Amino acid sequence: MKLAVVGGGSTYTPELIDGFARLRDTLPISELVLVDPAADRLELVGGLARRIFAKQGHGGRITTTADLDAGVEGADAVLLQLRIGGQEARLQDETWPLECGCVGQETTGAGGLAKALRTVPVVLDIAERVRRANPDAWIIDFTNPVGIVTRALLTAGHKAVGLCNVAIGFQRKFAKLLDVTPSEVHLDHIGLNHLTWETGVRIGGPDGEDRLPELIAAHGEAIAGDLRLPRALLDRLGTVPSYYLRYFYAHDEVVEELRTKPSRAAEVAEMERQLLTMYGDPSLDTKPELLAKRGGAYYSEAAVDLAAALLGGAGSPYQVVNTTNNGTLPFLPDDAVVEVQAAVGAKGAAPLPVPRVDPLYAGLIANVTAYEDLALDAALRGGRERVFRALLAHPLIGQYTYAEQLTDKLIAHNREHLAWA
Ligand code: G6P
Ligand code: MN
Repeated sequence: MKLAVVGGGSTYTPELIDGFARLRDTLPISELVLVDPAADRLELVGGLARRIFAKQGHGGRITTTADLDAGVEGADAVLLQLRIGGQEARLQDETWPLECGCVGQETTGAGGLAKALRTVPVVLDIAERVRRANPDAWIIDFTNPVGIVTRALLTAGHKAVGLCNVAIGFQRKFAKLLDVTPSEVHLDHIGLNHLTWETGVRIGGPDGEDRLPELIAAHGEAIAGDLRLPRALLDRLGTVPSYYLRYFYAHDEVVEELRTKPSRAAEVAEMERQLLTMYGDPSLDTKPELLAKRGGAYYSEAAVDLAAALLGGAGSPYQVVNTTNNGTLPFLPDDAVVEVQAAVGAKGAAPLPVPRVDPLYAGLIANVTAYEDLALDAALRGGRERVFRALLAHPLIGQYTYAEQLTDKLIAHNREHLAWA
């Protein structure tokens, strides 16, 4: 089995390699290609990747290349994990929205729109080239904003599934709290990428007993603490929102914090410098501890599970993925991309039925879906007015004066990445 990772020079890659090595029975990889335009990073990351495989006795071959077409040739699956503009662009996304009192974040709000505009055209070009090289290859998209990018891929007819680690993170955490194995925990997980709620925590599968009420009662304090939301809110919702909901439920509080704290982009840039230095040490042959400070916990396990299921091998029968709505959430258009539990196999992902969604969530989900629709339109066709419409539709922006100012800021800060600007 051959896999290619586009954005393979990412400092995250050793996390992925560690998962591929540990879980080789689930996903037997014979060849792994790390594709990245940054030769210096590729050399450091590729070197460590080979040492991790060797140390764990994995016989698979790891190669590196800057040549996308050559790298994806013959690949059964291609993982996309790229970041156009790097942490520098992320720093911008996290900063200029604050000038209007709006959250500055890499995937949520105006910063997320900027990222979508930079990213969608590049990902679509890559996907086209993957299809040319091997029309049967699956594309697994980790590239943010995953909801919008996956929708772009699916609308263009690609064989793609979007993936995020938020659900697997909750699955692992809840398993520990309930003292069961992670694979026994089945989440009722609804919403859009980075806009989700756990509405049930079932043991054994989709029909298992729901232990969420008990979990909140016994561990509400700890769960809310991790999300940095008040415990009373969890009790009142009776569900567990992802930490991205804090940007909505505590928007103004977050803006105040972001104005005074160092940005996440600056923290990550510093970690990346340290990580790359470590990767260059020929005696290092495991993923360093420092990597755990990044947000990507368990993403390798999610990737292995999904690739294994799509490529017809092992892998869990049900997984939380980003895929076409197709009536799953009846208040959204069929072609919207939702993040829900799905049956996954060689034919792709088919969402499981979702019971009626509380209007408390449905309203916000519908609103953000409409924003994503307009965001994709702006990413595909460009133009100031399309950017404005997406910002005006976003529930965290909404006022025309802010939408107007943010449109100008977005374009000014991203001109070099926007063909039309
Ligand atoms: C989580 C999210 C990812 C995001 C990451 C950011 O894993 O699910 O989509 O990219 O956090 O982590 P970072 O360490 O870059 O802040
Ligand atoms: Mn994510």
